[in-house]
Amino acid sequence: MKERFPQGFMWGGATAANQVEGAYNEDGKGLSIVDAIPGGKSRLAIVSSPDFDFTLDPSRYTYPNHKGIDHYHRFREDIALFKEMGFKCYRFSIAWTRIYPNGVEKQPNEAGLRHYDEVIATCLAHGIEPVITLSHYEMPLHLATEFGGWKNREVIEHFERFARTVLERYGQKVKYWMTFNEINSAVHFPMMSQSLTVKTGALDPQAKFQAWHNQFVASSMAVKIAHETNPAIQIGCMIIYATAYAFDCNPLNQLATLKEMQSFNFYCADVQAKGDYPYYAKSLWKSLGVTLDIQPGDMALIKAHTVDYIGFSYYMSTTINKTAEAESAQGNLLGGARNPFLEASDWGWEIDPVGLRIGLNQLYDRYQKPLFIVENGLGAIDKPDENFRVEDDYRINYLRQHIEAMAEAIDDGVELMGYTPWGCIDLVSMSTGEMSKRYGFIYVDLDDTISGTGNRYKKKSFYWYQKVIASNGSDLS
Ligand code: BG6
Repeated sequence: MKERFPQGFMWGGATAANQVEGAYNEDGKGLSIVDAIPGGKSRLAIVSSPDFDFTLDPSRYTYPNHKGIDHYHRFREDIALFKEMGFKCYRFSIAWTRIYPNGVEKQPNEAGLRHYDEVIATCLAHGIEPVITLSHYEMPLHLATEFGGWKNREVIEHFERFARTVLERYGQKVKYWMTFNEINSAVHFPMMSQSLTVKTGALDPQAKFQAWHNQFVASSMAVKIAHETNPAIQIGCMIIYATAYAFDCNPLNQLATLKEMQSFNFYCADVQAKGDYPYYAKSLWKSLGVTLDIQPGDMALIKAHTVDYIGFSYYMSTTINKTAEAESAQGNLLGGARNPFLEASDWGWEIDPVGLRIGLNQLYDRYQKPLFIVENGLGAIDKPDENFRVEDDYRINYLRQHIEAMAEAIDDGVELMGYTPWGCIDLVSMSTGEMSKRYGFIYVDLDDTISGTGNRYKKKSFYWYQKVIASNGSDLS
């Protein structure tokens, strides 16, 4: 069989601390913003409401992330299962609040650092390369409530101290890093990635764009520290990518699609990968009434410390129709018009593997840097039988089609480093805070209230992905 993936291709899986670890107040950990975000289908509506201010209210809400899947205590068992699947790498994030509980301390919490020492050692003992996200929707709550989140420039120095601490501690052992998870998701969800509420500026373009600028400076500082710590480190940006289509050949829809690609997909990566604001930034700021506070030295830092690769998540495409009343893509997280050529997941996310091939070509053409798909997958309702066996052919089909699209993009000439499907073990979902939206190859016996044994069971897709990895992507049957 002809090998379609390069030797050394990084097959693996991805999680984030706040969605798997639990143990939200153990061993000195402080509260992060996600610890104060209720679970349930109305999660995004709650955090987007005008009075939301991260006040915990257990009398009204549940907080599934507090327990997660208890990966904090069970990571050895989980990583052993990843090894059994043949993972070459494991993408996870470090909870900032385990290291600096409120974000402002001058000394790190040694217990938190020791935890990740052990996670990293476990990965390496299994021959699994850790891929670490510095910040996955996890700002310390204190920095959100007392500083107003990322729009406040002072946050940069606190992030820098956190980044330096972990890069210096783990940087000789861990070669692959990423700065901010889905940094551009703030277009739709500034409360997650910039810690902005309606009260502190979630709907105000000025706050959002200033928060991004501060994150770009912080990201470049992290890149600088990483390379100074160990020149072998490769550190990437991480964006959410949704290939955008014009609904039809009406030039106005084509133009709107171009603008959507710039303002959503490219704005952040253009700065992080090319080291400068793109040519269209000024007109974008003007149209939104934004005036950025750019301090002397910011742009030189951003220019000098660009990322080594483009990490991105891909779940769906979007379709742009600005010229007519169009049926909206109900449930598509990133909105847009309904695309009549696509089917959708149980949660309404439109499934589009061809869009992934297009996106890979678009990103590589634009940045000419290696690409890394660090999230992709199907959130679905799994129905285990009495032996907890899950026949998840729907998930296998989804992944097969996307891996096939990756192989085609590689044939097109794209340089792709690796693939870490999201939620390789079932976890708490980000947008709805549910367990029932499952992505994993491994079933976790917990319900939406985090009741259950927490036991792990291998799904049918576990064995399928094992075969995919063993054949380096040649056997997708
Ligand atoms: C990405 C996030 O947007 O999508 C993850 O980086 C998230 O944190 C994933 O879990 C899937 O989204 P959801 O809402 O299905 O969990």
